[in-house]
Amino acid sequence: MQQVNLGMIGGGTVGSGVFHAWQKNGGLMAARLGVKIQFRKIAVKAFDEPRPYPIARNLMTTDWQEVINDPQIHIVIELVGGTGIAKTMVLAALAQRKTVVTANKALLSTHGPELFAAAAKSGANLYFEASVCGGIPIIKSLREGFVANQFPAIYGIVNGTCNYILSRMKAEGADFADVLADAQKLGYAETPPDLDIDGHDAQHKIGILASLAHGFWADHHQIHTEGIRDVSKIDMEFAAKLGYTIKLLGIAKQSKAQSPKSKAGVQVSVYPTLIPNTHVLASVNGVFNACFVRGDIVGDTLFYGRGAGKDATASAVLSDVADAALDLKNGGKIRVAPFVACAKGGRIAPMDEIVSRYYLRLSVVDKPGVLSKIAAIFAAAKIGISSVIQPEGHEGESVPLILMIHDAPNAAMRKALAKIAKLPAVKNKPVMIRVENFE
Ligand code: NDP
Ligand code: HSE
Repeated sequence: MQQVNLGMIGGGTVGSGVFHAWQKNGGLMAARLGVKIQFRKIAVKAFDEPRPYPIARNLMTTDWQEVINDPQIHIVIELVGGTGIAKTMVLAALAQRKTVVTANKALLSTHGPELFAAAAKSGANLYFEASVCGGIPIIKSLREGFVANQFPAIYGIVNGTCNYILSRMKAEGADFADVLADAQKLGYAETPPDLDIDGHDAQHKIGILASLAHGFWADHHQIHTEGIRDVSKIDMEFAAKLGYTIKLLGIAKQSKAQSPKSKAGVQVSVYPTLIPNTHVLASVNGVFNACFVRGDIVGDTLFYGRGAGKDATASAVLSDVADAALDLKNGGKIRVAPFVACAKGGRIAPMDEIVSRYYLRLSVVDKPGVLSKIAAIFAAAKIGISSVIQPEGHEGESVPLILMIHDAPNAAMRKALAKIAKLPAVKNKPVMIRVENFE
């Protein structure tokens, strides 16, 4: 049986998970693929760091260049993370014509086109299934299973850490900081975890999915991104009373031209979103991720599974290793290119152009005439209010006022909110959360 040799750089949460999964099921993979897969070297920063699973000491080195420069290594797995040394490692491996497998969505999001160009130049492939949604084979599904489709909409709960935090805050009333600490202990969070909670990790992931779905590389600077720091228990409670759950959603949705002067584009964004409890995504909890993919031919589909953690992510890394091994078995012919720029004139629509529904919580002085002033500002902006709730039982200088707002462009909503925030009767910054009805 032909043998393919692996080198891995990084033996932390995911790296040790990959080694453990290979020890467990490497023989099964060989039987299925007709190729023996063998680990040859694993580079880490320090030998004695604690690891979730042990790695055979005789395979370890602290010099990553040994992995790249070993002529017997065919496939290099990069599991270091970040956009600094990891980029040097990936480019060095490709320059040696070695196929690279990475889980590094930050690196792809920031330097994707450069890395794909380097791969094309070298003739080696670059695989990245584990970069989005942990163990869910979403990249393979978009590129291969759904190759005959256009994608009117993709909605994803793509960050395990945020979903874990929001789920536990909702279910247990747990404190944000405590739950984040747990997510870090469980190996879900990035270093630093701000990447997760400020929405950047989800931005990297939805950018990768949008790029594959729409055939132009989504520049991450253009992806409107909000994290979950400002999601409060009080908004979770009001949302629940209205029949919604708050999730951090990555959205890649075709958007129509809003006027004869504007152009069509793709909404690519990340923000906390009110989801109707009746929608399947509302019941995705804990570290689980889900991707709701609407194809123009296939219709609505749903992918669900663990979005982070050593074992789920290892499963995705090894699926890339299997594809890379099959390429090598077939004489190095690349069956599926990492990214194909097939769209001309593709464009990310600016957030101001996007039409959404909104949940709005204001803290207002409880006196006559306040609501009419707010309603007048919305009316002048041609924004419709669909319902108003002033929950009873609140006392003090200000009371909550909840408004559900009909479809309106983000620009109009932003301007109206700026005016409302300046009303003397409105205390504190208004809280606005967009609402998605998946139409
Ligand atoms: P860890 O921090 O757990 O592991 C990083 C590894 O890289 C460690 O083994 C570290 O060595 C090694 N390393 C760092 N610098 C060097 C260097 N200069 N030379 C050699 N080795 C080095 O990170 P994760 O395993 O959590 O994440 C790895 C990648 O996978 C990241 O890109 C992340 O975004 C991605 N990812 C993570 C998921 C998760 O659930 N954790 C899920 C999906 C993707 P040492 O052990 O000695 O410190
Ligand atoms: N920090 C990431 C998450 C890891 O929580 O989703 C998986 O990509």
